[in-house]
Amino acid sequence: MSHQRKILVTSALPYANGPIHIGHLVEYIQTDIWVRFQKMRGHECWYVCADDAHGTPIMLRARQEGIDPETLIARVAQEHKADFAAFRIGFDNYHSTHSEENRQISHLIYERLRDGGHITQREITQAYDPVENMFLPDRFIKGECPKCGAADQYGDNCEACGASYSPAELKNAVSAVSGATPVEKASTHYFFKLANFEAMLHDWTRAGHVQKEMANKLGEWFEAGLQEWDISRDAPYFGFEIPDHPGKFFYVWLDAPIGYMASFKNLSDREGIDFDAFWKADSSAELYHFIGKDIVYFHCLFWPAMLHGAGFRKPSAVFTHGFLTVDGQKMSKSRGTFIKARSYLDHLNPEYLRYYFAAKLGSGVDDIDLNLEDFAQRVNADLVGKVVNIASRNAGFIDKRFGGRLADTLAEPGLFAEFAAAGQTIADYYEQREYSRAVREIMALADRANQYIDEKKPWAMAKEEGREQELHQVCSMGLNLFRLLIGYLRPILPGTAAAAEAFLRIEPLTWEALAQPLSGHLIEKFVPLMTRVEAKDIEAMVAASREDLKAIDAKKTKSMETTTEGHLAKDPIAADIDYADFAKVDLRIARIAKAEPVEGANKLLRLTLDLGGETRNVFAGIKSAYEPQDLEGKLTVMVANLAPRKMRFGLSEGMVLAAGPGGKDLFILNPDIGAEPGMKVK
Ligand code: MSP
Ligand code: ZN
Repeated sequence: MSHQRKILVTSALPYANGPIHIGHLVEYIQTDIWVRFQKMRGHECWYVCADDAHGTPIMLRARQEGIDPETLIARVAQEHKADFAAFRIGFDNYHSTHSEENRQISHLIYERLRDGGHITQREITQAYDPVENMFLPDRFIKGECPKCGAADQYGDNCEACGASYSPAELKNAVSAVSGATPVEKASTHYFFKLANFEAMLHDWTRAGHVQKEMANKLGEWFEAGLQEWDISRDAPYFGFEIPDHPGKFFYVWLDAPIGYMASFKNLSDREGIDFDAFWKADSSAELYHFIGKDIVYFHCLFWPAMLHGAGFRKPSAVFTHGFLTVDGQKMSKSRGTFIKARSYLDHLNPEYLRYYFAAKLGSGVDDIDLNLEDFAQRVNADLVGKVVNIASRNAGFIDKRFGGRLADTLAEPGLFAEFAAAGQTIADYYEQREYSRAVREIMALADRANQYIDEKKPWAMAKEEGREQELHQVCSMGLNLFRLLIGYLRPILPGTAAAAEAFLRIEPLTWEALAQPLSGHLIEKFVPLMTRVEAKDIEAMVAASREDLKAIDAKKTKSMETTTEGHLAKDPIAADIDYADFAKVDLRIARIAKAEPVEGANKLLRLTLDLGGETRNVFAGIKSAYEPQDLEGKLTVMVANLAPRKMRFGLSEGMVLAAGPGGKDLFILNPDIGAEPGMKVK
């Protein structure tokens, strides 16, 4: 190897609130293949990743499960690591953004940006949940679409008509966390002045650091103008507190990419790697980020600007890939094509999926489709039918007739040389992330190898007298060709390659070692390296993924649950609250001064409550159980300090307590002796 490169590679950090699914795996497999290739070439290449552990969805999910966010992210990290390991994603380090390294580097970068004049502050108004006392991200506000009126839509866009809008435009908006009507509330936020880096970014995005398609997309964003980026969030928030602004936290996307550095720092400290050599402004090391097309803005604008502003090097390149579809459509839970990594592993060999993705992946940003029928057909025809077959066709003779020893010389040095020479083209394709082309090249070689065996017919030689030496030579030749094919496929099929290396009794293959054939070498008995994909296993996986949906639905009705998209479903029994929270509830005796039906509402009564000098208007869902006139004059108990809630019929200023299974059997509290309106209830 003439020149050893220093390369640092990352994949995007998966969120710590959901499982890894086959869509994610496009990226981790794509990256892992590239890293394994670089390592085979003899370069110093490090592959780091981490869980993206901060943010509101993770905080809320932990709260719903009644556990600390730290407990949640520790559990999810274990699940993610197990899934990645099973798919043989060979991270050199898998860390967490909720780590000491990340806190330190995030502080450092923030302080350098601030001191460089790249941070500004201003007050903004946002939707606020008055019950949970928290600001609501758009995804946590639900209501009716302002364009088409569809119910139950999120605060940023409508799934029914595709309209996008601001949460303030939603009709009858409610908080997805508590169900309360959000109110507008002001707060000071901190902003990163992205426009300070416009000239630098303009040049950088046009200097070959991003794919052409992405450069064009970025061009549109430049034209739209680079806005200031809100990097702060108010408490409660699971993240890092901003050092000079207590109560304010870094927005998850500020410290997420810094997590790349933090994971590498953690690795460097453990392995004695020179961290600065990779990150200093004039570093000669290479830095590559593999990402999906949904997070380009963060990686191609914010991130290089942050690095530049803080005196660090910028990425050598950001490699963007497209999204996975299954059978031509978006992954779907109802069709059973929203397949978790774990569900796949329960039924199928991870090497199949690695191969299939590789066979489909190019260097562009096009979406890639997993067609389940094509998947089975392709894996069976190529890997089982062509590659593994070459070994099985020759190994038996070597074992039985020649004591497991390969011949001393090659039968066809010319053919071997041809195979070895193809390594250059294949390497170029890997380097350029043109895996589908590499695969095509390798499969063409596999065809040649099978053709060679077909022509020589070792099975016929084995039956004839005096052709022992020829048989030995042909089978040894076949196994030498197999060795080259497995070497070329090694970045894609690490598990199969390891098994093949054990069978051939060789050291882990390097690219350089490939051109040297095996001669006079002892090998092991052959064991089948891969079995066929069975249609029934695919069916079982899809069926199990449909089951998953049922499980999710069942859970949704039982407890408040964050789905994998981070949406919330509402639940009657929420997580425990402690006594201090309960003690905040201000219960008062109230006299029902007036009770009347509400036009257009079949469950509600409008109650005018007398709190001893103060009157409150409260809507109560007790119409099925009480005639309005029977309630008037009665005493009852109300929650007096519930934040007012805007309803379709007017403002509701509290809540009357009632219990019972519903319908006619619903009972309000009916205190009597010694009770006076306005009295506190103990
Ligand atoms: N946490 C952020 C990334 C922070 S990086 C500093 C995030 N996480 S994610 O879990 O939603 O996605 C992780 C990666 O998987 C992203 O690059 C995303 O584009 C990719 N994919 C998620 N779903 C995918 C498909 N269906 N298809 C292909 N890639 C997909 O974004
Ligand atoms: Zn709509």
